[in-house]
This record gives sequence, structure tokens and C-alpha cells, in this order.
Amino acid sequence: MNIVIFGPPGAGKGTQSDFIVSKYNLFQLSTGNLLRKEIEKKSELGLRIDKIINSGNLVSDDIVSKLVERVLSNKKLNNKIIFDGYPRNLSQANDLEKLLNDYDQKISLVLNLKTNLEIIKKRISGRLACSKCGKIYNKFFNSPPKNGDCCLEEFLVKRKDDNIDVAIKRFTTYEKETIPVLDFYKKKNLLKEVNGETSILQIYKEISGIINLIEA
Ligand code: AP5
Ligand code: MG
Repeated sequence: MNIVIFGPPGAGKGTQSDFIVSKYNLFQLSTGNLLRKEIEKKSELGLRIDKIINSGNLVSDDIVSKLVERVLSNKKLNNKIIFDGYPRNLSQANDLEKLLNDYDQKISLVLNLKTNLEIIKKRISGRLACSKCGKIYNKFFNSPPKNGDCCLEEFLVKRKDDNIDVAIKRFTTYEKETIPVLDFYKKKNLLKEVNGETSILQIYKEISGIINLIEA
């Protein structure tokens, strides 16, 4: 089953994807993570992407589409992908339709984590990620462990685009470019709304209920 998880910046797409991946044996395709990997390479392309991400705008559809095709074309991941943060505009939604058709796959479910801007600002300002394993934490809501080999304080990093100004710009970009994609999937009867404003576990409970129904 391929799933799309939607929601504004900081809604919890990555957090929920982590749970879904382990429970349903899916692969998380986060275009944000793939773009950040390109930035880490410090290539010319990476430098261009870095500037765009830190302005709160979207990276070009061509770049993103190539990254997505690399994963979709992997036969081992056939119908086992959770798309996190993709597609992000109508043109990407159409690109994805073509790619799914080319690789004989389909989307079974689109989840929308509805979350308001005030909550998002707090979540984004408290987010930390482990530089060793990538796990996401939050200094207000989801503290990292105090012991162990991984995720200790010295390994935790803040994303460069995680400041209030860029977060507001990302939210505006989401409203303008990404919200229309919800309608695209609503018309296909694939969209399920989820309240993204409750606790991490409560949201996961709601999501797994929806997935279980579809799998049954
Ligand atoms: P991307 O990395 O996708 O960022 P985003 O969409 O802004 O979303 P985030 O990753 O910030 O939030 P999230 O929803 O994953 O929340 P998380 O689970 O971490 O994209 C970054 C940039 O890359 C874009 O702005 C764009 O420039 C570019 N880009 C990416 N994809 C693109 C595409 N397809 N096309 C073009 N450009 C693209 O949670 C956030 C925090 O809240 C964490 O600290 C977490 O612990 C906490 N938290 C989560 N859930 C809860 C809860 N229920 N209660 C309390 N705390 C919670
Ligand atoms: Mg994320």
C-alpha cells in the first residue's frame, strides 16, 4: 500500500511516518530529507537547494521529481511507500500520477494532518533531530533519552529552516501551493482528514485505525 501524508510544516508528518513505517513495513520517502542529503554533499545543486529551503519556498518540480523516481523505480519498494511532503503542488501531483502509472503502482490513502499555525510555531521552535540516526524530538513535547548510545544531547541538531520567520513563510507556501492538492485527492476519494492537534500517540491511534480499515 502506498500512502501520502500531508500537513503544514511541523504538523507531525515525519513523526507519524516513523510509526507507520515500523508497523506496516513501508519505506518513508521524505522529499525534505532527500533534499537535505543533497545539501550535505555541498554540491552546487546542494547549495542552490539550501538557499531555497531557507527562504521557505518550494524547490523546483524537476529536481524533486528525479529524486522521487529513483525510489519509485526500485522494485523492492513496489507499493510500499509513504510519501512525506510530496506532492506539494498540483504539478507534482500530476507528475506523481504519471510515475505511478509508469511503475504500475497506486496510492491507496491520503492522510491530512490538520494543524493550526500557533501549534506549528511551538512545535517547530522546539524541534531537535539526532544527527546520528535522524530521529525527531521536541524540547517541549517529546524529549530525547538521557542515556544510551544514540540521540544524546551532544548529537541533537536544529534545522536551519526551523525559525519562526521561515516557518510562517513555509506555512504560507503550504496554504497557497499545497492545499489545492487536497482537493485533487478528495475528488479521487482517497483523502482522510486527521486532527493533527492532539498528542503524538492519539494521532497515531487515529491513523492506524484508518489504515487497518483499508487493509482489511
Ligand atoms: P520538509 O522537510 O518536508 O518540511 P515541512 O513540510 O516544512 O515539514 P516538517 O518536516 O517541518 O514537519 P513535519 O510535518 O515532518 O513535522 P515533525 O514530525 O518533524 O521540507 C523542507 C523544505 O524542503 C520545504 O520547505 C521545501 O523548501 C523543500 N521541499 C520538501 N519537499 C518538497 C517538494 N515536494 N517540492 C518542493 N520543495 C520541497 O514534527 C515537528 C515537531 O513537532 C517535532 O519536534 C515533533 O517531535 C513534534 N510533534 C510532532 N507531532 C506532535 C504532536 N502531536 N504533539 C506535540 N508535538 C509533536
Ligand atoms: Mg518532516
